[in-house]
Amino acid sequence: MEVVIQANTDAATELVARIVAREVQTNPRPVLGLATGRTMESVYARMVQMHRKEGLDFSACRTFNLDEYVGLPGNDGHAYRHYMNHHLVRQVNIALRNTHLPDGTAANLEAECERYEGLIDQAGGITLQLLGIGHSGHIGFNEPLSAFRSRTRVVALAPTTIRQNAPIFGRADKVPRSAITMGVGTILDGRRCVLLATGEDKAEIIARAVEGPLTSMISASALQLHPDCTVVLDEAAAGRLKKSDYYRWIYTSEPKWDWFRKLPPVVIGSGRNTSSLEDCRLEPAP
Ligand code: F6R
Repeated sequence: MEVVIQANTDAATELVARIVAREVQTNPRPVLGLATGRTMESVYARMVQMHRKEGLDFSACRTFNLDEYVGLPGNDGHAYRHYMNHHLVRQVNIALRNTHLPDGTAANLEAECERYEGLIDQAGGITLQLLGIGHSGHIGFNEPLSAFRSRTRVVALAPTTIRQNAPIFGRADKVPRSAITMGVGTILDGRRCVLLATGEDKAEIIARAVEGPLTSMISASALQLHPDCTVVLDEAAAGRLKKSDYYRWIYTSEPKWDWFRKLPPVVIGSGRNTSSLEDCRLEPAP
């Protein structure tokens, strides 16, 4: 695992969007594992901006989302299918048929979970998996006690998660009680994982996931087992890490990050074309 601490949320978002852009540019058959949630909204906004202003081409991409609420049809305003269509799919050049989410309305949910795992296999596996982290320590909706080897399945949402997502639904009792989620094992099968966490409210759970013991009580701690996992944080989310100076030292002395440090300063939403994708082509992909 490597931990990259950026000065602020915009810079952390920019780095994650650039990592995805590199994958889209350098892999002829990128298979992206995607997350939803508030943290990811600005990553997708940046990817859309790169598509519009810098010509980032998504036509070869296939995508698989981590999760979907049980019982919500795709056109429900709270469904993750709706979220993805709104924030990314309709705004870039990716064919809808190449974007996948579990179907939370399937008559046979178990069969749907198996079908979803099969689709990921048929695509050759996920090449880059984007992740957020919940207050419960979940990745996807892998709530506490999820087995590290778990596969796509139906899970009950933890009370912490219901509280976390209540503002989006207006009231806690409107949040669905269950969801289909890729398993921790499914996530760990991805070739590369990138987790983004921003804000002070994530500081405690990030410290436990990154520096704490491996435990199924915090699914994100399983990422310590992944051979190619990058955790990108802003200063606020890094606030409880004990070894943050060491992580900063690794990041600044590691040549593989030269490509990112050479990019011009980040100015998001200014309308200025601050950093062309040419910059990403300066160095071969790490
Ligand atoms: C949703 C998902 C979740 C979120 C996490 C953080 O697809 O995978 O694990 O990434 O709950 O959500 P936000 O960004 O809203 O804090």
